[in-house]
Amino acid sequence: MALIAPSLLSADFLNLERDIDMINNSEADWFHLDVMDGRFVPNITFGMPVIAAMKKKAKKPFDVHLMIVEPEKYIESFGKAGADILSIHIEASTHLHRNLQSIRANGMKAGVALNPHTPVEQLVDVINDIDVVCIMSVNPGFGGQQFIERTYDKIKRLKQLITESGAPTLIEIDGGVTLQNIEQLIAAGADVLVAGNTVFSSPDPQETIKRLKAAGK
Ligand code: DX5
Ligand code: ZN
Repeated sequence: MALIAPSLLSADFLNLERDIDMINNSEADWFHLDVMDGRFVPNITFGMPVIAAMKKKAKKPFDVHLMIVEPEKYIESFGKAGADILSIHIEASTHLHRNLQSIRANGMKAGVALNPHTPVEQLVDVINDIDVVCIMSVNPGFGGQQFIERTYDKIKRLKQLITESGAPTLIEIDGGVTLQNIEQLIAAGADVLVAGNTVFSSPDPQETIKRLKAAGK
């Protein structure tokens, strides 16, 4: 069954506690937290102190998506702040293998995120060192963007790579996931679906999470 990870990027930052409770009481599996630095992406969000504060209320794993340059500098800090899964961008990692080892050494699951232009084949020599591959299905930086159709092909190619290598790596899709495309994404091989706008702009977020979850059964 596919996992659902609502993205807090589209939450109401004035009412974070309420939105965290909503996710706690929903069928969601993970919290997806988008950290942006204004350098890797043209937007700035939140960092360790906000994540550490949210961790006190949240009852599900924290899937932290770092959209920052030099992620290696902050691996330990995000671990201490409460990340359970830490994803770094391949485009921001000169020494990806070393960074993945460092994430695991700090007690977290290691994730790698790929921009839309980055081929999944770049992971061939590190696939066994990755717990989650986050395929960006929009250009990172903002919620509520339109899904890039080319993603289906990338999922299928990544699935094949994972199967061939015998790795237990999960495939996560981030950006533009809706109630309309979720079934096709799962059919292509997606294991984890991030959803920001679809959940938080809906009149009943909990019900929307339930429907997303039902699509993955
Ligand atoms: C975009 C972020 C996403 C974003 C997804 O840079 O990585 O996690 O919140 O938002 P939606 O689901 O609205 O496309
Ligand atoms: Zn994200």
